[in-house]
Amino acid sequence: MSQKLILDCDTGTDDAVAIMLAALHPELDLVGVTTVNGNVEVQYCTDNTLRVLDHIGRAEIPVYEGLRRPIVRSDFPVPRHSEVNPSSNIHGRELPLPPATSRKQDTGAVEFLVETYRATTDEIALVPVGPLSNIAAAIAIEPRLVEAVPEVVIMGGGNVKGNATPSAEFNIWADPEAAAAVFAAGFPRITLVPLDATHQALVSREQCQALAALGTPAGEAAATLIGQRITGYDATQPMATPGSAPVHDALCVAYLLHREVLDVQRTHVDVETAGALTVGRTVIDLYSRSGKEPNCDVALGADAGLFVDFMLRTFAPRS
Ligand code: BDR
Ligand code: CA
Repeated sequence: MSQKLILDCDTGTDDAVAIMLAALHPELDLVGVTTVNGNVEVQYCTDNTLRVLDHIGRAEIPVYEGLRRPIVRSDFPVPRHSEVNPSSNIHGRELPLPPATSRKQDTGAVEFLVETYRATTDEIALVPVGPLSNIAAAIAIEPRLVEAVPEVVIMGGGNVKGNATPSAEFNIWADPEAAAAVFAAGFPRITLVPLDATHQALVSREQCQALAALGTPAGEAAATLIGQRITGYDATQPMATPGSAPVHDALCVAYLLHREVLDVQRTHVDVETAGALTVGRTVIDLYSRSGKEPNCDVALGADAGLFVDFMLRTFAPRS
């Protein structure tokens, strides 16, 4: 039986690869994609999601548009798209894929999440890979969601790394109150996939060539999108191995089928919502200093070879 999931995305380049993995792997059943303001304004995230699904022939997977701003703050951070310096654009505003012909659903993302988890008797994993605004809003409306979601796999945070500020990772920083609400909600099983793990699963230009050589729409799109990421990372935040980039969100999808792709440690995670220099920081209690019960498995390591192999196998032609 395949693993059902819902992806909650702010669709830029790495979200797009995550969507393609979830939509194409035969052991995964992507029930729907919800979008949220993040990498770019939510309407672009929605349009990008539709482009990805159309491009790989999975336009029947429904897309639900979510929140346009954080749950508390009105000062949503300015999207990082740069018209001035396109080479610094890890995401860009519109993904380099043909315009979508399919349309988003009339139902909004938060309503979809609440109604789906109220009604389902199936186990549907929830995989948020953008700011946690939709998820926080859904549990505020329906607190029993916490019992209905068997597993949450979140891309976000960092133990020793930040990328939006020296202290904070983008997804958590972009809506810190939402993130704090999600970690405090009491979900029985949360896995946090922070930068500490995703920066160990780097993809190189040579591996992009191998993806392109698959000759499938997904393989070619992944090569283009990850190539764009490598150019952006080399220009703005070079990785330990230049000419390579993390594909953060896709690692969460790999983990659903290959638990060994991540090294996890059970611990307590809080989110800083007040610190002038540290807002959006995930406070990861690796040495049990807080005395608080663990609420999360945090990934501190990743197996890059396994991850790349998973992408190559998923995007290969099917006989
Ligand atoms: C996260 O932020 C976004 O820019 C990416 O899509 C990813 O989800 C990495 O910090
Ligand atoms: Ca994302």
